[in-house]
Amino acid sequence: MPTEPDYKTTTRLVHGPSHSAKWDFAHHVTPPLSSSTTYRLDDARRAARGFSEFGRAVSDEGDAPVYIYDRLDEPTRSILEGELAAIEGGECCVSFASGMGAISGILGSLLVPGDGVIAHLVVYGCTHSLFSNWYPRMGIGVRRVDMNDLAAVRAAVDERTRVLYFESPTNPTLELVDIAALRELVDELNPTRSAEERIRIVIDNTFATPFCQRPLEHGADIVVHSLTKNLGGFGTELGGAVICPEELLGSLLLYRKDFGAILNSKSAWAIMVYGLPTLPLRLKRQQYTALKVARWLEGSERVRRVTYPGLESFPQAALARHQMRDFDGDFAPGNMIAFELVGERGDTERFIDALAHHAYSITLAVSLGHTKTLIELPGPMTHSSYGEQTERPHTVRLSIGLESPGDIIGDLQAALE
Ligand SMILES: Cc1ncc(COP(=O)(O)O)c(C=O)c1O
Repeated sequence: MPTEPDYKTTTRLVHGPSHSAKWDFAHHVTPPLSSSTTYRLDDARRAARGFSEFGRAVSDEGDAPVYIYDRLDEPTRSILEGELAAIEGGECCVSFASGMGAISGILGSLLVPGDGVIAHLVVYGCTHSLFSNWYPRMGIGVRRVDMNDLAAVRAAVDERTRVLYFESPTNPTLELVDIAALRELVDELNPTRSAEERIRIVIDNTFATPFCQRPLEHGADIVVHSLTKNLGGFGTELGGAVICPEELLGSLLLYRKDFGAILNSKSAWAIMVYGLPTLPLRLKRQQYTALKVARWLEGSERVRRVTYPGLESFPQAALARHQMRDFDGDFAPGNMIAFELVGERGDTERFIDALAHHAYSITLAVSLGHTKTLIELPGPMTHSSYGEQTERPHTVRLSIGLESPGDIIGDLQAALE
């Protein structure tokens, strides 16, 4: 029999670990949902061992961990974390209650007052709010730079810079950031810095998912996810995750324990049992449809601009083909499309209202990476924290679901007319 690592990632996502020291589920075909706020500790010595071992990496092999209290660690969440670390090719994973919990968790555990972050110009609206509303109050400096302008990034770095932060593709403009180019720059800057002063590359990989892109392979240090999106996949769970090197695990677990934004075991179970095994299947179908929809939009005279990494016209097509590859090495441009209509803001709003009132296959709603196709206007909605600064206020964001492509196109056409 081949050992587990010999199987394809797609198979591995269906089965998970066949055995785990984290929980004995040798006779379960589906891993059990363990849900207990607290754990019997047997005796004082074992209890003390549990507390002293907290913060260590727990693997599927070796001795069973001592579980103490759900906010510290619990088996269902821990098995999911092992799976997420494995598919991103990382050493460890720490899950959180939401994507924002994961983003604020990793940055909160890396940065102290006086430190600096350099972040890409366009990021998810709440990440922008974290940087613009909260970090100034906390004494953390934030510089916003085009991450593809290496000279600008280099000029923005100073002795307090600790993190380069971006999404790729970005929400909502679908711009890509060249991860390997930033790695080269950071490798040039880091050798003169002490271990604590090192600059780390943190990427939000939510739009791509590990199916379409594994940033650690390109040189990122840390990956964050909103599990609420395509990793969960069905729009039923909120969650977040950080995939990081083992050296950061202790402080990240301490941060999660003390700030308390844990992923609940029921959500972890649903993401592990429904989300992960169906991820490749859903993404392949969504991509197939996204390309058809993007091409159709591109051909419409009522559409001014369409951005989809799978289109030949995509401005960073070569980078997309290099960076976005699925588990089998095939080009994987994802399920997100951005477009702009010809006309004024009012025309775009009328189009959105027509969809909201009459479309069956497209829903006006925020979030993305759902079985259902969702549409929204980032300017006044998910990215309203940017205020009037938004570069493209009329952008429409479309997250392709699992419907028949012809139905999605039919609903778009009717609304455009
Ligand atoms: C790219 C990106 N990162 C992070 C988040 C935050 O995730 P959550 O809503 O799970 O906190 C979102 C939410 O839309 C997102 O689009």
